Amino acid sequence: MTIALPKGRIADDTLRIFSSILGEEFLFDDRKLILQKGNFSFLLVRNQDVPTYVYHQAADIGVVGLDVLEESKIDVLKILDMRIGRCKIVVGSEIGKPIDYTKSHIKIATKMPRITQEYFSKKAIAVDVIKLYGSIELAPLVGLSDGIVDIVETGTTMRQNNLEIDSVIMESSVFLIANKNSFFSKKREILQLQEKIKGFL
Ligand code: PRP
Repeated sequence: MTIALPKGRIADDTLRIFSSILGEEFLFDDRKLILQKGNFSFLLVRNQDVPTYVYHQAADIGVVGLDVLEESKIDVLKILDMRIGRCKIVVGSEIGKPIDYTKSHIKIATKMPRITQEYFSKKAIAVDVIKLYGSIELAPLVGLSDGIVDIVETGTTMRQNNLEIDSVIMESSVFLIANKNSFFSKKREILQLQEKIKGFL
């Protein structure tokens, strides 16, 4: 069984869960991107690439945030909420400078253009989405945008940059996902794993 993990803290947490439920240690060697042990191959990939590996069946299952999944719109099965990596996707703006929704075009900076566009379309608000790759909180401070759509976990980054939450778009946490064909062909193994993780959580 091949499992795609997003590099960083979520991979560490997930490997810890696997080590606990399977009773053996799973640790990547420095800089190695694949870890093979017994029946398992773990792949270390970029967060946003997890759904792609799973969709194309390069991995049978994967671990990824609901925010990434929603943004990618990739068709995979969500099989378990792992209740880690909890965060919110919010609209934010400078404290004391709320977004002026009467303007004809509002500029919103974000890493998540699709979620942003959908959210504002549903509210019939026209937005120019400015796609950035990080440090989103900077955009309204230097006049690049009127507001942001970003992830809030502890709230520290927004607070320290004089921003506040306007509205919450969605809550997110990390999900175990599966390729549809793999779920059919390896149903027993996948469900067993899902049960063990569920028990552990
Ligand atoms: C994310 C997000 C916020 C921050 C929120 O950024 O985009 O900037 O974390 O966390 P907090 O509420 O706990 O402060 P990330 O650390 O992924 O870095 P990036 O800005 O380079 O994307």
